[in-house]
Amino acid sequence: MAETDLEAELARLKRASSAGESNAPEELTRSSALPTPTELAPEEIGRVAIPDRLFISQGEQQIELYLPEVRRDEIALGEYVVIPLGYRPEKLFGRIKRIAYRKRDAIDDLSEVHALVSAASVGEDEYVALAQVEPISLISSSGQPTEVRYIPKPNTLVRRVISEEEVKIGLDLPPDGLFLGYLAVNGERITVAGQIPIAYYLLNDADKTGDPLIFTHLLIAGMSGRGKTHTAKNFLRQVIGSRYRMERRGGAVRQPCLVIIDPEDEYWGLREDNPNLKNIPSEERANLAGSGVKLGGVGEVLTVYSAVEAGKSYHGCDAHTDFTIPFELVGDFPYLIAGGELNEAQYAGLERLIRDFFKRSSDKSYRAFRAFVHDDAELERYKESDLIHEATLGAIRRRVSRGQFEKIFDQGANPITELYKSVFAEGAVSVFPTAHLSMEAERVVVLAVMSMIADGKTRLSEDKPWGRRIAQFPIVLAVDEAHNYLTASQTQQDRIIIEKFVAAAKQGRKDRLGLVLITQNPQDVSEAVLSQISTRILLGMDQTMAERAGAPGHYQKALPYFEKGRMVVHSPDNSQPVEIRGLPFCLVR
Ligand SMILES: Nc1ncnc2c1ncn2[C@@H]1O[C@H](COP(=O)(O)OP(=O)(O)OP(=O)(O)O)[C@@H](O)[C@H]1O
Ligand SMILES: [Mg+2]
Repeated sequence: MAETDLEAELARLKRASSAGESNAPEELTRSSALPTPTELAPEEIGRVAIPDRLFISQGEQQIELYLPEVRRDEIALGEYVVIPLGYRPEKLFGRIKRIAYRKRDAIDDLSEVHALVSAASVGEDEYVALAQVEPISLISSSGQPTEVRYIPKPNTLVRRVISEEEVKIGLDLPPDGLFLGYLAVNGERITVAGQIPIAYYLLNDADKTGDPLIFTHLLIAGMSGRGKTHTAKNFLRQVIGSRYRMERRGGAVRQPCLVIIDPEDEYWGLREDNPNLKNIPSEERANLAGSGVKLGGVGEVLTVYSAVEAGKSYHGCDAHTDFTIPFELVGDFPYLIAGGELNEAQYAGLERLIRDFFKRSSDKSYRAFRAFVHDDAELERYKESDLIHEATLGAIRRRVSRGQFEKIFDQGANPITELYKSVFAEGAVSVFPTAHLSMEAERVVVLAVMSMIADGKTRLSEDKPWGRRIAQFPIVLAVDEAHNYLTASQTQQDRIIIEKFVAAAKQGRKDRLGLVLITQNPQDVSEAVLSQISTRILLGMDQTMAERAGAPGHYQKALPYFEKGRMVVHSPDNSQPVEIRGLPFCLVR
């Protein structure tokens, strides 16, 4: 019976598309009248059909449309469509989620006709093409998106989106904010006649209700070489110069301090203009201006802080400031020297020694601590009172006296605990390259900087001048290759750091701390940290990674095919999940 309905409707559509009438009446009357003998307008793609059932519900729904022959070859999965209800002012906004052919007449197929004619002579006429629409939202007459609560009627005309407004309302996109790229479908920017591409922004307004989304944290994930760093640089460029209120409703307006952990020495480019930007087409330039995209180097605002390690030197940005991690910081963060090697008892013993050392010794250097740990007379009482066992002490001693530490701690004149006023300053960009360091030094440096920020923000270091300073203005901490530092592994050291960051991330909105984590291995980033992140920017990645990184279901199969520049943004507080296309060029060097 359903097949007969289909047949009749198809015949009607055929008549319609060959009738050649061109005076297009109002959308409202068109979509409600049953047989409307007019040509399809360019944006029209078919009519709501009932091959089986047409329904909406609070769970699933089934909305299908006939694709007339003239449209069959044009329609792709993922395209956004609009179905004006006709009987009400609302329009249904949705996405094509399935395209199918069905046999027009099952009985015909059972007869032996098909066996008698050659395959080449069986035309598409034999079949009906149908597309299934996944409803996303209902666009009300006042221009607000609501949940889908009214059903489109059979035979209603379905069309492509015709205005930027429709897309913005349908997908609930913020009108402005931090630019991330242009809305796209299947890798192509969506263009609506005569308009610039539709920019996708992350909410960033200090005065709107709700918090700027940067303070609920971002993840940029994708396989190696798919453009994570490129995306991060273009995004961070937008962050620089933003202003935020220090409290959720009210408080001083402050610029953030941007701190970047940079394992590949790539981010100092933010200092300088991209010389190739001169060569981009004028149309692209107009798009950038029209979308309010910030570009160009930020100059002196950015400082490269290169950690000093004996025997290594930094050869990146010409202008850089050397600094060192003073051993004093181990008093606050004992895991800096513990690494991942010590078990729970050994770590507890080390913590005790560190605490006692800093209480008693006026010389707070690494050398003095090493001497203390090796001072048998000094340590006799720990052994005697069974506080630290002989074997435990042995493990601690081996760890503390590693040759490397001597090259890492207390290297010269610029301890970060004194430089802190320039490192953590309103409106500043502080980049910490680590490619020139040994693995152990990189770990110490990165964890020291990250820990200072986490403790400063959660006010665990209010007794320290740097701790009080960090609390004063917003901090955006970007960590490239984040899986190396906020790992899913479970050593004593990792557990402590993760705990610290989960606590800091939870309070990010209140304390004005934004994390931007960049990784090619989201599966290696601590689940506890990932669960604090509200915005996921997903570049090309395999399906397993897509699942783990929290990609929306309908994008999980497509993400492995995403080439450079294509990404999915999943940010429930910002918009519906969407595909966007990032800029093909870098906004800075
Ligand atoms: N959208 C884009 N358009 C054109 N080129 C791009 C785009 N994104 C990235 N690239 C280029 O591709 C290369 C790799 O990009 P990028 O370094 O950002 O990748 P990545 O994901 O960070 O890689 P890795 O995993 O090695 O850190 C770079 O040369 C970059 O300039
Ligand atoms: Mg990278």
